[in-house]
Amino acid sequence: MKDLPRGLLIKARIWRALFPLRWVLSAQLWVIGRVVQGCSVALFGIHVAIDFVRLMCLDYTARPDDVFLVTYPRSGTTWLQMIMYQLTTDGSMDFQHIAEVCPWFERVAMNRRNLDAMPSPRIFKSHLPHIWIPKRRCRYIYVARNGMDVAVSFYGFHKSHLRYRGTFEQFFNRFMRGWVVWGSWFYHVSRWWRYRNQPNVLFLKYEDMIADLEGCVRRIIALCELDVAEERMPEILRRCSFEFMKEHEEKFDFATEVMLEKGFTPDTFIRGGRVGDGADRLDDEQTARFQSKYKRCVAGIGLTFEDAADASTGDAHGK
Ligand code: A3P
Repeated sequence: MKDLPRGLLIKARIWRALFPLRWVLSAQLWVIGRVVQGCSVALFGIHVAIDFVRLMCLDYTARPDDVFLVTYPRSGTTWLQMIMYQLTTDGSMDFQHIAEVCPWFERVAMNRRNLDAMPSPRIFKSHLPHIWIPKRRCRYIYVARNGMDVAVSFYGFHKSHLRYRGTFEQFFNRFMRGWVVWGSWFYHVSRWWRYRNQPNVLFLKYEDMIADLEGCVRRIIALCELDVAEERMPEILRRCSFEFMKEHEEKFDFATEVMLEKGFTPDTFIRGGRVGDGADRLDDEQTARFQSKYKRCVAGIGLTFEDAADASTGDAHGK
């Protein structure tokens, strides 16, 4: 510290002398921060509980052909959604996100989706533990996956989608205690396992779906009493393959679902990459306003831009 220039040395000494005060202030701010956070979590909890009760009691009227696809997260939920979508429709991929055709039941309370307007059979995705799932005369398909694989996959998801900054070890400790979203994997799978022999429940394993997708699909068809033409089967299996779903990943990604809920259209970030869109889109008045300001502010320094006509003779992407 002695090597520092005199000015900096004085500042450093003052800063060090203020340490007790800084410590008290920062401790108080920490407490205030926790109190504010606690209040907001509690309020959020109340809000979620109210929404949830509203959904269960008011907004959801069961139909006998409703199907709930239930899993602990990262156990093959989206895969199951795609299988059910392929089995119950012509399978065309002209949806923006799978949630459009197979909504997430718990989120319906948040995104105000009108469940009664959905055509039958309605397919819902859910992560609810058995105790919370609406128990009606509909069908339930549960997929369980090896918990160690779930932990690894869930960690990846936390990092990529939930801004988790901890190490895998820290995440794994939380996972083992059930201190993660959706709670304990052990509790979730073991509770659902108890009901596996009920006639309206099909309990599948992710590993069995990997080993024999067709066999599992046929069990789903049998449970839901679906009428699927035999000649469609190869195409259904192709569309439910990992490769096909990976190719259409944006239609299954949770980030896309959240963006669509908020009214964004996520497919327009890499939009058209064309020179001349502005000239086509702006009307005469807007073009004149732009040109006038451009002449005043930019043209004088010699910075000019190609217009669409010039660009059409060259490479529009400037390569
Ligand atoms: P990994 O993270 O191990 O790759 P969920 O939809 O419940 O979040 O589950 C996600 C997991 O299911 C991911 O596992 C994902 O790769 C896997 N998955 C999704 N579609 C699949 C498919 N068609 N075949 C095999 N696994 C699939």
